[in-house]
Amino acid sequence: MSVTVLVGSQWGDEGKGKIVDILSENFEIVTRYQGGANAGHTVEIGEKQYILHLIPSGILRENVICVIGNGVVIDPTALLEEIDLLEKNDIKVNGRLFISHNAHLIMPYHKLLDSINEKGENKIGTTGRGIGPCYIDKFARKGIRIVDLLNKKVLEEKIRTNLKEKNNILEKVYDSKGLDVEEIIEQYLAFDKAIDKYIKDVPAYLNEAIDNGKSVLLEGAQGALLDVDHGTYPYVTSSSPTSGGACTGTGIPPTKINNVIGIVKAYTTRVGNGPFPTELLDADGEKLRKVGAEYGATTGRPRRCGWFDAFLVRYSAMVNGINSVAITKLDVLSDFDEIKVCTGYKINSKHIKSFPTDTDRLSVVEPIYETMPGWKSDISKCLSYNELPKRTKDYLSFIAKKAGIKINIVSVGPKRKQTFFVHN
Ligand code: GDP
Ligand code: IMO
Ligand code: MG
Repeated sequence: MSVTVLVGSQWGDEGKGKIVDILSENFEIVTRYQGGANAGHTVEIGEKQYILHLIPSGILRENVICVIGNGVVIDPTALLEEIDLLEKNDIKVNGRLFISHNAHLIMPYHKLLDSINEKGENKIGTTGRGIGPCYIDKFARKGIRIVDLLNKKVLEEKIRTNLKEKNNILEKVYDSKGLDVEEIIEQYLAFDKAIDKYIKDVPAYLNEAIDNGKSVLLEGAQGALLDVDHGTYPYVTSSSPTSGGACTGTGIPPTKINNVIGIVKAYTTRVGNGPFPTELLDADGEKLRKVGAEYGATTGRPRRCGWFDAFLVRYSAMVNGINSVAITKLDVLSDFDEIKVCTGYKINSKHIKSFPTDTDRLSVVEPIYETMPGWKSDISKCLSYNELPKRTKDYLSFIAKKAGIKINIVSVGPKRKQTFFVHN
């Protein structure tokens, strides 16, 4: 029996989709626990590339049941488009996907407010998917949930009440045009037909499954440094990507979690605004972006790139309780003469002891680097740890030691076969 949480350990896009796809071969249930269609999880199977935003990446394994937990915020339009796309590719979704009755719905005004906020002074560089405003309503206890789709009267009333307030804000605060309430009611009342069949009492379902010995993989979205509590606030998302979020976002209690796997990219990337101590604004940064194809899977934005930050990953391992790590995109470093690794930070020439998540301090840290020789050879065809060049193994040992992590899986390309397990 295994209940495993898989978390992004940096600022997202570590390759979670690919590793979930690999691991889900041995899991019966894969569950998303937070975030929404801001996520873009890429899986390559043969010549086909799938980018999943809301549905767990386990959907690509036909024996796996997929679950969307209460911690996820669901844009029904995005959900139905994704289901449609999968079914067009002969991937059966009906009967294999369950959605928590308590998950919140993203409404058109959430997306509009997200885009208005992004034009203001507190620009975060969001994905524009309405994520922040939806979680605001959830915590303000005004949200509309999946369960509300089952009762047309309640749904209509909730939309009317919310729209009254939101249109007031849109018109009076933001000097923007309000939204048409009747249009939204009509659109959302129609969703129940398509979505009802997926609705489930997810905490009851998952707990019963676990008690009956079924294995569950909890697929995190985003990354620890984008966590609203443990990330680089305010440049974060509005949910809890860290492993703790897996409990609140599904109804699985902490006592039932056996394992936490961290997904760690062999260098660092970030999309959107906020401090990034090891960012490279030079030719090396461009090379990482080009070789690593570092463009957002959801928005297409170029990702900011930089050297591996062991100090950051050490912090992430602590707040997530990471047991073992999958290192991804190691192949992207193959053509560098030298590779730098950040092992700590200084502020005003003084070493600091713990990772500063407050942006004022993180913006002024001076990264301390150690330089490793590059291996300058193609590792994308290596099929085992033993086939890696000595210098690549040295790089892995070095980052593992500095970040305080145990590497169990290594990924040297986007495809399934470009993955191997490290037996320590
Ligand atoms: P996620 O959000 O964490 O699932 O990651 P994304 O899918 O947004 O970004 C990871 C990108 O890297 C995708 O395009 C993957 O196909 C690709 N990828 C994953 N692992 C590897 C790897 O080991 N090497 C290379 N070159 N690409 C990888
Ligand atoms: P996956 O699951 C990388 C970033 C956005 C922005 C901040 C807030 O593919 O790793 P939001 O739309 O959530 O309010 O944006 O978070 N962000 C991501 N960055 N990968 C993601 O997801 C992200 N989801 C959100 O770029 O900086
Ligand atoms: Mg992504």
